Amino acid sequence: MCGIVGAIARCNVVPILLEGLKRLEYRGYDSAGVAVLNASGLERVRSTGRVAELEKLTQAQGLSGNIGIAHTRWATHGAPEERNAHPHVSGGVSVVHNGIIENHEAMRARLRAKGYVFVSDTDTEVIAHLVNSNLQAGVTLFEAVRKSVVELVGAYAIAVVSESDHDHLVVARHGAPLQLGVGDGENFAASDTSALIQVTQKVIYLEDGDVAEITLGGVTIVDAKGDTVERAVHVSQLSAAAVELGNYQHYMQKEIFEQPIAVANTLEMVTSAQSISPQLFGAAAGEVFRDIDSVLILACGTSYHAGMVARYWIEGFAGIACNVEIASEYRYRESVPNPRALVITISQSGETADTLAALQHAKELGHRYSLSVCNVPESALIRASDLRFLTRAGPEIGVASTKAFTTQLAALALLTMVLAKMRGRLSTEREAGLLKALRHLPIALQSVLHVEPQIRMWADKFAQRHHALFLGRGIHYPIAMEGALKLKEISYIHAEAYAAGELKHGPLALVDKYMPVVAIAPQDALIEKLKSNLQEVRARGGELYVMADQDTKLTSSDGVHVIRMPDHAGLLSPILHTVPLQLLAYHVALERGNDVDKPRNLAKSVTVE
Ligand code: G6P
Repeated sequence: MCGIVGAIARCNVVPILLEGLKRLEYRGYDSAGVAVLNASGLERVRSTGRVAELEKLTQAQGLSGNIGIAHTRWATHGAPEERNAHPHVSGGVSVVHNGIIENHEAMRARLRAKGYVFVSDTDTEVIAHLVNSNLQAGVTLFEAVRKSVVELVGAYAIAVVSESDHDHLVVARHGAPLQLGVGDGENFAASDTSALIQVTQKVIYLEDGDVAEITLGGVTIVDAKGDTVERAVHVSQLSAAAVELGNYQHYMQKEIFEQPIAVANTLEMVTSAQSISPQLFGAAAGEVFRDIDSVLILACGTSYHAGMVARYWIEGFAGIACNVEIASEYRYRESVPNPRALVITISQSGETADTLAALQHAKELGHRYSLSVCNVPESALIRASDLRFLTRAGPEIGVASTKAFTTQLAALALLTMVLAKMRGRLSTEREAGLLKALRHLPIALQSVLHVEPQIRMWADKFAQRHHALFLGRGIHYPIAMEGALKLKEISYIHAEAYAAGELKHGPLALVDKYMPVVAIAPQDALIEKLKSNLQEVRARGGELYVMADQDTKLTSSDGVHVIRMPDHAGLLSPILHTVPLQLLAYHVALERGNDVDKPRNLAKSVTVE
């Protein structure tokens, strides 16, 4: 989604701002812009193209300045046109904004009545006019911004500069991430650490309600109550190399191939151990896990699919009732709270607005226990949860989530083992066996990656199609859903997943020779039933693409394409079966010439609802 970068330095900040934007491109955007202050006053350049386009425009114009703000916009209010791109301007004031201002219509009417003219359809423009109008009282920019944010309803992170003051950059946040970068005689702000590491590793995470004034020499932060506060300076562990492409063509490709190491890193602390303990999830986890009587999982997108897999594990192995809900549904529906349920939120970014709000809602309903499984250590979700497990996938840049998903599954498998052990459902022998399987998981993932040449052949055929069906049964049904999601996200082919037993209840009507059907066929208790489902598809001329375990005796024949999965992984089978589906989506998108890492209309971190 939208990205913010701000900088004040003795040098020209335009290259820093543009480099920051490039590092935020992965979040998804449809226009970009930059504004700086220099001897001629406020200068702004905007473009509906990529950041590279914007860079060319700034070079052509010779844009330069020691203080500035920049933005990548993912359209919410108003089409992706240049007039709606940030920064927005009112007189000498310029603003970039992430989030949504919910009371923008009322504010717009008020500001219009004062004579302000609106030239965009955005909610952001009201902030520019509001700050401008508050500046008229002769206060500092800092005071004008502080006065303005009190009137804003909604979620926002903003950065503001004013022609009247070349020494101060002012930022504020409420419900959308924003951090400061601390330099030496220069300082920065950004919505994401990855935009800052080009200039500094020292980061201050602003809290909700904070307004900060940034100068060459330092920062002053005032909290929601109006008190000046000190916020800790963190040294970010993010390395510049971790967000670079290296030898790969796309981030998604890199991230698919990083899965063995990402999973190994995530499980590092358990794979050398002889047994597992609740402390892996936080110091108080033992006590909490003993008291809970059920589990409620809340998440969005791919993370929701991880939760669906976990339900099969948690109920099947640990014997604990488990519900999984889409966060955006849960937060607005009337549900029956159970204070003894463990509320688990799953999120790659830890910044997804609906997941954060769902957790908040669960707490307000009286849920006592929360655990988050998350990939970003300093994220809002981690800070809002009592217990936490960090997946150590490293930064995930591709919009379509890959290594975050498999590491989430590894974490959730571990959680299931801990819960099962505490419920007396895991013998020492079984625990040792499962630990062995976890230790083997990175190697098993590595061997699954070798199916890529066969998947490329499948991709050739899929690229011509308009629709696809994905079938799975039991714990592989959510994996079919994840496969369908990957395909639609980046190839734009309409794909749907069904629990294979549902085939006859509707989707079979769609099957003909133009409908490729992907089936996940591990050697489990449901394999014979799945084979019957596949016959039903074949009988209607549907082309089958099957990922089958060795023992299933499924072989390729006319209209049936079988890929043999190299390893039979038992409990961990869903993790392995995910990989070929990721590769399939990747190669189909490549065939179709799509922007794999930045699919149209989608964003990496959905920080607005
Ligand atoms: C967006 C991303 C998805 C992701 C979902 C949830 O839609 O494009 O890849 O699964 O958000 O994000 P989270 O960071 O909470 O896992």
